[in-house]
Amino acid sequence: MNGDLLSVRGLSLSYGPVSAVRNISLRVGDGEIVALLGPNGAGKTSVLRGVTGLVPPTAGRVRMAGHRVDRPSRAVALGIAHVPEGRRVFPGLSVSDNLLVGGWAVSGSRSQLRARRDQVFEMFPRLGERQRQLAGQLSGGEQQMLAIGRALMTEPRLLLIDELSLGLAPMVVDTLIERLVELNKAGLSLLLIEQFVHRALGIADRVYMLSKGRVVFEGTPDDATKAGAVEEAYLLGAGT
Ligand SMILES: Nc1ncnc2c1ncn2[C@@H]1O[C@H](COP(=O)(O)OP(=O)(O)O)[C@@H](O)[C@H]1O
Ligand SMILES: [Mg+2]
Repeated sequence: MNGDLLSVRGLSLSYGPVSAVRNISLRVGDGEIVALLGPNGAGKTSVLRGVTGLVPPTAGRVRMAGHRVDRPSRAVALGIAHVPEGRRVFPGLSVSDNLLVGGWAVSGSRSQLRARRDQVFEMFPRLGERQRQLAGQLSGGEQQMLAIGRALMTEPRLLLIDELSLGLAPMVVDTLIERLVELNKAGLSLLLIEQFVHRALGIADRVYMLSKGRVVFEGTPDDATKAGAVEEAYLLGAGT
């Protein structure tokens, strides 16, 4: 494995009086797939918000390829793209415009943007077939493809994905995972939150288990399974 791409040290984050992330450290090596797992309310989404600076951390530091990340625009500029929980496509825009808007944050001519959009269509032909449809009319799986495609429009080195498969049919999830593994082979690193733990363990190089805002296990998927870390983290439960 190569050096760290993402390095998070001592991250803490609160919502007013609610402490959601407590002194978390984690790393994603260049080319890795890292899974971030844990029960509802464990703080997974909040870690991603802290990484991009969407919610400013109360403590800790985030570095991407050695550079400090302190706000979302900086995260994008440094090559971090975020597929948020709930996908958040723009329902009133066409599929094509969702992608073009996604690439707007980074520099590039219109023709470069269109070329990148067409690469997304090659990766997800269903989006290409539906490029003039409104995003709000797509199925959940197609919306997730669009959310991933939109994130790819910034040509990231690291993709943060929050709840890849939530509410999606198993066959659609298979397709999404296949595409992500291909992207990873082409050099994209992934930090993945996934409710189907065994699916995540199946593709991850390393895994972090969170419970109540803390890292309770860090290791390989094999170690996580042997140590019973998965069951333990989920049994420890949610909340603060
Ligand atoms: N916008 C918010 N305002 C207040 N509390 C929040 C907000 N988002 C999350 N929380 C709280 O922060 C904790 C961690 O939540 P979250 O990061 O969403 O966990 P997970 O993604 O693992 O389910 C929970 O106690 C949750 O209720
Ligand atoms: Mg969440």
